[in-house]
Amino acid sequence: MKKLVVIGGIILFAACQQQENKLTQTIIDPNDTSEMALLMRDMFFQLEEIKQKILLGEDIAQEQLNFELIHTQTPTDESFLKEGLVPMSTAYANSIEAFNKQPSSKNFSSIVNNCMSCHTQLCPGPLERIDNLIIEK
Ligand code: HEC
Repeated sequence: MKKLVVIGGIILFAACQQQENKLTQTIIDPNDTSEMALLMRDMFFQLEEIKQKILLGEDIAQEQLNFELIHTQTPTDESFLKEGLVPMSTAYANSIEAFNKQPSSKNFSSIVNNCMSCHTQLCPGPLERIDNLIIEK
């Protein structure tokens, strides 16, 4: 039993590593990218833009984020749809809502923390990339 869990973990990790390595390749051919992966890229780029504005001291009071719920998207691999995805996806959606109510650097960081905690548990491959969204104090 224990062995199975370990093997499952390795397969999942490999799938997520592959995602990261495939990044440049899939930009050339976006058709083999899952709905969920496309959503992730969109979120990454939109958040990166807001991060830049925060760093430049621009006004972000009018920024609003609107994403599909992560757990309703089709993933590359069904193993992503395991227990824990829905609560983490919901927590993430709540952090987006809090940001929309009050767009601030603090609420931005709370979104990024939610990206990190789901990825730490489900999909560690892109963590290094998500690190770029952290605002250094
Ligand atoms: C509820 C869990 C969860 C949250 C929250 C989450 N992710 Fe993901 N992310 C995933 C899963 C699962 C995948 C793999 C999706 C697939 O391959 O279909 C993924 C894939 C990715 C990828 C790789 C996409 C590709 O090109 O293949 C990036 C980059 C990414 N996420 C960034 C982010 C960022 C940035 C955030 C926060 C704005 C975030 N993620 C929030 C679960 C999550």
